Amino acid sequence: MDSLLSLLNVSLNYHTKQKETLAVKDLSFDVSSGEFAAIIGPSGCGKTSILSLIAGLIKGYGGDVFFDGEKLLKPSEKIGYMLQRDELFPWLTISENVYLPLKIKRLYNKENKDLADELIKKYGLIDFCDFYPNQLSGGMRQRAALIRTLAASPELLLLDEPFSALDYQTRLVVCNDVHGIIKSENKTALLVTHDISEAVSLSDKIIVLTQRPAKVKNCYILDFDKDLTPIERRESDRFSQWFETLWRDLN
Ligand SMILES: Nc1ncnc2c1ncn2[C@@H]1O[C@H](COP(=O)(O)OP(=O)(O)OP(=O)(O)O)[C@@H](O)[C@H]1O
Ligand SMILES: [Mg+2]
Repeated sequence: MDSLLSLLNVSLNYHTKQKETLAVKDLSFDVSSGEFAAIIGPSGCGKTSILSLIAGLIKGYGGDVFFDGEKLLKPSEKIGYMLQRDELFPWLTISENVYLPLKIKRLYNKENKDLADELIKKYGLIDFCDFYPNQLSGGMRQRAALIRTLAASPELLLLDEPFSALDYQTRLVVCNDVHGIIKSENKTALLVTHDISEAVSLSDKIIVLTQRPAKVKNCYILDFDKDLTPIERRESDRFSQWFETLWRDLN
Protein backbone atom coordinates (compact mmCIF):
# COMPACT_ATOMS: atom_id res chain seq x y z
CA MET A 1 0.00 0.00 0.00
CA ASP A 2 1.19 3.52 -0.75
CA SER A 3 1.60 5.94 2.03
CA LEU A 4 -1.04 8.67 1.71
CA LEU A 5 -0.06 10.62 4.81
CA SER A 6 3.34 10.86 6.48
CA LEU A 7 4.39 12.83 9.51
CA LEU A 8 8.14 13.20 9.89
CA ASN A 9 9.62 14.42 13.18
CA VAL A 10 6.71 16.76 13.81
CA SER A 11 6.85 19.04 16.85
CA LEU A 12 4.34 21.59 18.01
CA ASN A 13 4.76 24.23 20.66
CA TYR A 14 1.82 26.43 21.69
CA HIS A 15 2.78 29.90 22.84
CA THR A 16 0.29 31.84 24.92
CA LYS A 17 0.81 34.90 27.10
CA GLN A 18 0.87 32.71 30.21
CA LYS A 19 3.08 29.85 29.09
CA GLU A 20 4.49 27.60 26.45
CA THR A 21 3.05 24.13 25.97
CA LEU A 22 5.00 21.55 24.04
CA ALA A 23 2.10 19.47 22.68
CA VAL A 24 3.88 17.24 20.16
CA LYS A 25 7.53 16.20 20.00
CA ASP A 26 9.35 14.30 17.28
CA LEU A 27 6.27 12.53 16.06
CA SER A 28 6.52 10.31 12.99
CA PHE A 29 3.98 7.94 11.49
CA ASP A 30 2.44 6.91 8.16
CA VAL A 31 -1.07 6.15 7.04
CA SER A 32 -1.46 4.11 3.84
CA SER A 33 -4.07 4.67 1.21
CA GLY A 34 -7.26 2.80 2.13
CA GLU A 35 -6.12 2.19 5.69
CA PHE A 36 -8.25 2.79 8.79
CA ALA A 37 -5.78 4.07 11.37
CA ALA A 38 -6.45 5.05 14.97
CA ILE A 39 -4.49 7.24 17.33
CA ILE A 40 -4.95 6.49 21.00
CA GLY A 41 -3.35 8.21 23.93
CA PRO A 42 -4.03 9.72 27.33
CA SER A 43 -6.30 12.74 27.70
CA GLY A 44 -4.57 15.98 26.84
CA CYS A 45 -1.58 14.31 25.17
CA GLY A 46 -1.98 16.20 21.91
CA LYS A 47 -4.33 14.09 19.76
CA THR A 48 -6.64 16.89 18.60
CA SER A 49 -3.59 19.06 17.95
CA ILE A 50 -2.22 16.41 15.59
CA LEU A 51 -5.46 16.23 13.59
CA SER A 52 -5.73 20.03 13.44
CA LEU A 53 -2.19 20.18 12.17
CA ILE A 54 -2.93 17.63 9.41
CA ALA A 55 -6.09 19.59 8.56
CA GLY A 56 -3.83 22.59 7.94
CA LEU A 57 -5.34 24.64 10.76
CA ILE A 58 -2.10 25.10 12.68
CA LYS A 59 0.89 27.03 11.40
CA GLY A 60 4.37 27.12 12.76
CA TYR A 61 5.08 23.52 13.64
CA GLY A 62 8.41 21.73 13.28
CA GLY A 63 9.09 18.81 10.95
CA ASP A 64 7.14 17.84 7.84
CA VAL A 65 3.71 16.56 6.90
CA PHE A 66 3.41 14.91 3.50
CA PHE A 67 0.06 14.20 1.91
CA ASP A 68 -0.36 12.43 -1.40
CA GLY A 69 3.36 12.79 -2.15
CA GLU A 70 3.53 16.51 -1.48
CA LYS A 71 4.47 18.64 1.46
CA LEU A 72 1.29 19.85 3.14
CA LEU A 73 1.49 23.61 3.42
CA LYS A 74 -2.17 24.63 3.54
CA PRO A 75 -5.57 23.00 4.12
CA SER A 76 -6.22 20.38 1.43
CA GLU A 77 -9.59 19.89 -0.26
CA LYS A 78 -8.81 16.20 -0.13
CA ILE A 79 -8.82 16.10 3.65
CA GLY A 80 -12.11 16.13 5.57
CA TYR A 81 -12.19 16.88 9.28
CA MET A 82 -14.93 15.80 11.64
CA LEU A 83 -14.28 17.77 14.80
CA GLN A 84 -14.37 16.46 18.37
CA ARG A 85 -17.60 18.37 19.00
CA ASP A 86 -18.96 18.31 15.52
CA GLU A 87 -22.34 19.85 16.09
CA LEU A 88 -24.75 20.24 13.25
CA PHE A 89 -26.22 23.73 13.04
CA PRO A 90 -29.60 23.53 14.82
CA TRP A 91 -31.25 26.14 12.60
CA LEU A 92 -30.42 24.26 9.38
CA THR A 93 -32.14 21.10 8.16
CA ILE A 94 -30.11 17.92 7.71
CA SER A 95 -29.76 18.56 3.96
CA GLU A 96 -28.76 22.17 4.51
CA ASN A 97 -26.20 21.04 7.08
CA VAL A 98 -24.76 18.52 4.62
CA TYR A 99 -24.56 21.10 1.79
CA LEU A 100 -23.02 23.82 3.97
CA PRO A 101 -19.31 22.89 3.60
CA LEU A 102 -19.80 22.60 -0.17
CA LYS A 103 -21.27 26.09 -0.21
CA ILE A 104 -18.48 27.49 1.96
CA LYS A 105 -15.84 25.91 -0.27
CA ARG A 106 -17.69 27.08 -3.39
CA LEU A 107 -18.08 23.49 -4.50
CA TYR A 108 -21.85 23.55 -4.49
CA ASN A 109 -22.75 22.50 -8.02
CA LYS A 110 -25.18 19.95 -9.45
CA GLU A 111 -22.66 17.12 -9.41
CA ASN A 112 -21.66 17.61 -5.78
CA LYS A 113 -25.23 18.22 -4.64
CA ASP A 114 -26.29 14.97 -6.32
CA LEU A 115 -23.44 13.14 -4.62
CA ALA A 116 -24.49 14.56 -1.25
CA ASP A 117 -28.13 13.55 -1.87
CA GLU A 118 -26.94 10.10 -2.90
CA LEU A 119 -25.07 9.71 0.40
CA ILE A 120 -28.09 10.93 2.38
CA LYS A 121 -30.21 8.33 0.65
CA LYS A 122 -27.71 5.50 0.79
CA TYR A 123 -27.14 5.93 4.49
CA GLY A 124 -30.74 6.05 5.54
CA LEU A 125 -31.42 9.71 6.16
CA ILE A 126 -33.57 10.50 3.12
CA ASP A 127 -36.79 10.56 5.16
CA PHE A 128 -35.18 12.99 7.59
CA CYS A 129 -33.43 15.39 5.22
CA ASP A 130 -35.91 18.19 5.95
CA PHE A 131 -35.81 17.61 9.69
CA TYR A 132 -33.76 19.74 12.06
CA PRO A 133 -30.94 18.10 14.04
CA ASN A 134 -32.89 18.09 17.33
CA GLN A 135 -35.56 15.95 15.64
CA LEU A 136 -33.04 13.13 15.03
CA SER A 137 -31.51 10.58 17.38
CA GLY A 138 -27.89 11.00 18.49
CA GLY A 139 -26.77 8.20 16.17
CA MET A 140 -28.55 9.73 13.19
CA ARG A 141 -26.98 13.11 13.90
CA GLN A 142 -23.57 11.45 13.98
CA ARG A 143 -24.28 9.79 10.64
CA ALA A 144 -25.38 13.16 9.22
CA ALA A 145 -22.14 14.75 10.43
CA LEU A 146 -20.15 12.00 8.72
CA ILE A 147 -22.13 12.39 5.49
CA ARG A 148 -21.43 16.13 5.67
CA THR A 149 -17.70 15.36 5.89
CA LEU A 150 -17.91 12.80 3.05
CA ALA A 151 -19.95 15.06 0.75
CA ALA A 152 -16.89 17.08 -0.23
CA SER A 153 -15.29 13.79 -1.45
CA PRO A 154 -12.21 13.82 0.77
CA GLU A 155 -9.63 11.08 0.33
CA LEU A 156 -8.60 11.23 3.96
CA LEU A 157 -11.06 11.59 6.82
CA LEU A 158 -9.89 12.90 10.16
CA LEU A 159 -12.27 11.83 12.92
CA ASP A 160 -11.85 13.23 16.42
CA GLU A 161 -13.70 11.09 18.99
CA PRO A 162 -16.73 10.92 16.68
CA PHE A 163 -18.73 8.61 18.94
CA SER A 164 -17.99 10.05 22.36
CA ALA A 165 -21.42 11.67 22.78
CA LEU A 166 -23.28 8.40 22.24
CA ASP A 167 -24.42 5.83 24.77
CA TYR A 168 -22.72 2.42 24.65
CA GLN A 169 -25.35 0.53 22.61
CA THR A 170 -25.77 3.28 20.04
CA ARG A 171 -22.02 3.62 19.82
CA LEU A 172 -21.61 -0.03 18.78
CA VAL A 173 -24.18 0.34 16.04
CA VAL A 174 -22.95 3.72 14.79
CA CYS A 175 -19.34 2.46 14.85
CA ASN A 176 -20.39 -0.41 12.64
CA ASP A 177 -22.26 1.95 10.32
CA VAL A 178 -19.46 4.46 10.04
CA HIS A 179 -16.86 1.77 9.45
CA GLY A 180 -19.06 0.29 6.71
CA ILE A 181 -19.55 3.70 5.10
CA ILE A 182 -15.83 4.54 5.12
CA LYS A 183 -14.81 1.14 3.76
CA SER A 184 -17.48 1.06 1.06
CA GLU A 185 -16.60 4.59 -0.05
CA ASN A 186 -12.95 3.47 -0.19
CA LYS A 187 -11.67 6.23 2.06
CA THR A 188 -8.63 6.46 4.27
CA ALA A 189 -9.39 7.32 7.87
CA LEU A 190 -7.44 8.61 10.84
CA LEU A 191 -9.49 8.29 14.01
CA VAL A 192 -8.64 9.76 17.37
CA THR A 193 -10.08 8.06 20.43
CA HIS A 194 -9.20 7.21 23.98
CA ASP A 195 -11.47 4.18 23.88
CA ILE A 196 -9.29 1.09 23.40
CA SER A 197 -12.20 -1.18 22.38
CA GLU A 198 -13.29 1.29 19.76
CA ALA A 199 -9.79 1.48 18.29
CA VAL A 200 -9.41 -2.32 18.25
CA SER A 201 -12.82 -2.89 16.70
CA LEU A 202 -12.32 -0.38 13.87
CA SER A 203 -8.69 -0.16 12.88
CA ASP A 204 -6.15 -1.73 10.56
CA LYS A 205 -3.42 0.12 12.44
CA ILE A 206 -3.19 1.63 15.93
CA ILE A 207 -0.72 4.33 16.87
CA VAL A 208 -0.27 4.59 20.63
CA LEU A 209 0.95 7.93 21.93
CA THR A 210 2.82 8.80 25.10
CA GLN A 211 1.74 11.44 27.62
CA ARG A 212 2.21 14.99 26.38
CA PRO A 213 4.33 15.90 24.47
CA ALA A 214 2.92 13.28 22.14
CA LYS A 215 5.38 10.83 20.63
CA VAL A 216 4.71 7.41 19.15
CA LYS A 217 5.00 4.82 21.91
CA ASN A 218 4.00 1.85 19.77
CA CYS A 219 2.44 1.18 16.41
CA TYR A 220 0.50 -2.01 15.71
CA ILE A 221 -0.91 -3.56 12.56
CA LEU A 222 -4.00 -5.52 13.58
CA ASP A 223 -4.36 -9.05 12.27
CA PHE A 224 -8.12 -9.53 12.10
CA ASP A 225 -9.83 -11.28 9.21
CA LYS A 226 -10.46 -8.58 6.57
CA ASP A 227 -14.20 -9.18 6.34
CA LEU A 228 -15.10 -8.84 10.00
CA THR A 229 -17.32 -5.94 11.01
CA PRO A 230 -16.40 -4.02 14.17
CA ILE A 231 -19.09 -5.89 16.12
CA GLU A 232 -17.81 -9.26 14.88
CA ARG A 233 -14.29 -8.28 15.87
CA ARG A 234 -15.50 -7.61 19.39
CA GLU A 235 -16.72 -11.20 19.56
CA SER A 236 -13.44 -12.75 18.38
CA ASP A 237 -10.65 -14.19 20.57
CA ARG A 238 -8.00 -11.83 19.25
CA PHE A 239 -10.04 -8.89 20.48
CA SER A 240 -9.23 -9.32 24.16
CA GLN A 241 -5.58 -10.01 23.37
CA TRP A 242 -5.27 -6.73 21.51
CA PHE A 243 -7.22 -4.97 24.22
CA GLU A 244 -4.74 -6.19 26.84
CA THR A 245 -1.71 -5.20 24.80
CA LEU A 246 -3.03 -1.67 24.40
CA TRP A 247 -4.24 -1.45 27.99
CA ARG A 248 -0.70 -2.27 29.17
CA ASP A 249 0.73 0.38 26.85
CA LEU A 250 -1.57 3.05 28.20
CA ASN A 251 -1.23 2.22 31.88
N1 LIG B 1 -4.97 26.58 20.93
C1 LIG B 1 -4.21 26.21 21.97
N2 LIG B 1 -3.41 27.10 22.61
C2 LIG B 1 -2.61 26.71 23.63
N3 LIG B 1 -2.53 25.45 24.09
C3 LIG B 1 -3.29 24.52 23.49
C4 LIG B 1 -4.17 24.83 22.40
N4 LIG B 1 -4.80 23.70 22.01
C5 LIG B 1 -4.35 22.73 22.82
N5 LIG B 1 -3.44 23.21 23.70
C6 LIG B 1 -2.70 22.42 24.71
O1 LIG B 1 -2.02 21.36 24.04
C7 LIG B 1 -2.13 20.14 24.79
C8 LIG B 1 -2.76 19.06 23.92
O2 LIG B 1 -4.11 19.38 23.66
P1 LIG B 1 -5.02 18.51 22.71
O3 LIG B 1 -6.35 19.13 22.65
O4 LIG B 1 -4.31 18.31 21.43
O5 LIG B 1 -5.07 17.13 23.52
P2 LIG B 1 -5.99 15.82 23.28
O6 LIG B 1 -5.07 14.66 23.33
O7 LIG B 1 -6.84 15.99 22.09
O8 LIG B 1 -6.91 15.84 24.61
P3 LIG B 1 -8.35 15.14 24.85
O9 LIG B 1 -8.08 13.66 24.96
O10 LIG B 1 -8.78 15.71 26.16
O11 LIG B 1 -9.23 15.51 23.71
C9 LIG B 1 -2.92 20.48 26.05
O12 LIG B 1 -2.02 20.70 27.10
C10 LIG B 1 -3.64 21.76 25.70
O13 LIG B 1 -3.82 22.59 26.83
MG1 LIG C 1 -8.94 16.07 21.83
